[in-house]
Order: sequence, then C-alpha cells, then structure tokens
Amino acid sequence: MSKILDNIREHAQSIELKGIKKSYGSNIVIPELDVTIDAGEFVVILGPSGCGKSTTMNMIAGLEDVDGGTISIGQQEVQDLEPKARGCAMVFQNYALYPHMTVADNIGYSLKIRGMKKTERMAKVAEVAKVVSLEDFLERLPSELSGGQRQRVAIGRAIVREPSVLLFDEPLSNLDAKLRHEMRIELSQLHERIGATSVFVTHDQVEAMTLADRIMILNKGNLEQFDTPKNVYDKPATVFVANFIGSPAMNLIENIERDTPLWQYCNLGLLDGVMGDDVIAGIRPEHIEVVEDGGMRAKVTYIEDLGAYKVINVVLASGQELMISTSLGFDGDHPDAIHIKFPEGKLHYFDRQSGLRL
Ligand SMILES: Nc1ncnc2c1ncn2[C@@H]1O[C@H](COP(=O)(O)OP(=O)(O)OP(=O)(O)O)[C@@H](O)[C@H]1O
Ligand SMILES: [Mg+2]
Repeated sequence: MSKILDNIREHAQSIELKGIKKSYGSNIVIPELDVTIDAGEFVVILGPSGCGKSTTMNMIAGLEDVDGGTISIGQQEVQDLEPKARGCAMVFQNYALYPHMTVADNIGYSLKIRGMKKTERMAKVAEVAKVVSLEDFLERLPSELSGGQRQRVAIGRAIVREPSVLLFDEPLSNLDAKLRHEMRIELSQLHERIGATSVFVTHDQVEAMTLADRIMILNKGNLEQFDTPKNVYDKPATVFVANFIGSPAMNLIENIERDTPLWQYCNLGLLDGVMGDDVIAGIRPEHIEVVEDGGMRAKVTYIEDLGAYKVINVVLASGQELMISTSLGFDGDHPDAIHIKFPEGKLHYFDRQSGLRL
C-alpha cells in the first residue's frame, strides 16, 4: 500500500458550509447554503448552467470570498484563509498542465516549489505515478498523451500534495462520449483507492449518478436535494429534481380534473382531501407500462427509435402528453394508439405551490 494514499485517507476531512451567501453585484448567486460533506465522501454538485456550482467549489477552495457564513474543513474554519492554507487540491476542466514539462515534472512541480529535495521528490512522483498508472509515461510531454492520460496527470499532480480535500470542476467535459465513460469508471476506481474527500462539479446527470456517494442538486443557488443517487432517482424531493434527474425526463401531469379517468389512473383518490389541481403527479417514461388492452388509450404522435429502446410520444384523451420508454418492438407499421398503465408505486406526487414531494 502506498504511503501517500495512507496519508490522504487518514487525513481526509469533512467540509461544512454554514449559512454561505454569495452575490456578484445585484446577482444573488447563493442565497444561503448549509451543507455538510463527510470525510472521505465523494460528493457531486449537480445543476443547470449558472446555478452556482463552480462558485460553491471556488469558495471552498478559497478562489472566491464568501459574503457571509462559515466554511469548515475538519475542525478548522477556513473562509478567511489563503487557498494554499486550506489543504484543497483542484483538478480543472482543461487540466492546466504545463505543456513544456514532462509528466514527472508536472506531477512534482508543487513539491519543487515547496523546496523538497530532488531525491525525495522523485520518490513521491514515482509513488503517485503508480497510483494513477502513469509509470511508463513519466518522461513524456502532455502533448504526447491521450485525454485520459492527461487527466490522470492532473489527478496525480493534485494528490502528490496529500490534500485533505480534492476538488474537481467538470474534468470530463472536454472528452468525447466514449472516453468520458472510460474516465468515469477510472475516476470511481481511483477514488476507492485514494479515499480523499472529493467534491466534483458537473452538469451531467450520468456522471453524478455513477460517481457520487451523494449528489448535491442546486437550482439557482438553492439546495434542492442532497442524497444518494438511488434516493434522488426513486424519491426526488422536489419537482425540480424529478424533472432534472432521468432521461427522458419524468412526465409531470398537472391540472388533473377530479373524477376523470386520468384522476383515477393517477390514483389521486388516495391523496385524501387534496384536490387534483393542487397536485402534480409524476411518472418516469421507463415506468409506464404498455398493455394489450385495458388501461388508458393513448394516441401515438411520434416514436423515436434509439436502437436499444424506443421513446413513444403519446397524447391522452384529456390532451395530456406523455413520453414512454420501452424496449417493445412493433411489427410492421407503428400503431396509431396504444394502451398504457401506471403501475402501482411508480407515481410521484408534488405540491404544486411549493414544488415539494408529498
Ligand atoms: N466573477 C464573476 N462575476 C460576476 N458574475 C459571476 C462571476 N462568476 C460567476 N458569476 C455568475 O454567477 C452565477 C453562477 O456561476 P457559476 O460559475 O457558479 O455557475 P455554474 O453552476 O458553475 O455553471 P456552469 O455549469 O455553466 O459552469 C452565474 O450567473 C454567473 O454568471
Ligand atoms: Mg461551472
């Protein structure tokens, strides 16, 4: 086992944000954020462009000041400390490698700056290179590496400093789909080995679902949900989360008239004393069942064939449009209409005013 990894694992720290506020001029980016990340946890900050993900990460790293509130790393309040005194190491989207330095020099640069002797430095670099599987590439320049190898240099450069927190800002977004997939798997395996507290920013829900111990979902700087990938998918806390996680997005059904077939199929009678028009019912496209007969008749408007599965766009008698994912094949022409059911236990309900899960 590597000594550097032992040190990182042993010194992994929790991160606590308390009442964090941030504005740029009149633009309130983070109204007020309270969140605790456990030591050794891999947390993904997920949300649409401009929701404050990078700002939040930069405040942890010390690259942005907070307007209010406290940030603690372990037992220490750090919001007034210089970035280099916080024990965070950051991996950026473009990796920011030094193009004229070899892999070994890129990884060892921060140790050199710190004045570490060459023999000690080279030993550390060799150890880290092994962790990120770059032993055979130490003498190459970044331009002679693949995207994935460059990413590993960037991670190696971050962990050689034995940080108590690793921060990643969209490190995979420059890669093509296949390489992204490979790097996702690699990152997740690396995290298991490294064990550092890691915060990873992305707007890609697949990255969030596959990498995170817990996902922090931000919407306009507000925390919508902070939970495991499974809970975020199975029990979205708000309409925003329901709509943001899942592809295609969850069907949301509003303005359901009382005692209509749709009202019955959505089981709204179960929600005692709640009028249909105060509730948003949700069902994921992959959970709608296509049945031979019975159920609701749905007119097919369009079918997208994605090979492994189809997305059927339908409209109900009420005018409600729905998307259905299915692996069903259809013989010959696409049908004009199908019959569908909402299986028990697959419906979600949200309060229309607050957007909160009921
Ligand atoms: N230095 C700055 N000066 C003024 N406004 C800024 C600054 N940095 C960010 N903002 C604004 O703050 C908001 C949040 O930006 P942030 O970079 O945190 O978004 P993000 O969630 O990381 O988005 P993306 O997914 O596009 O990277 C945006 O409205 C952005 O325009
Ligand atoms: Mg960003």
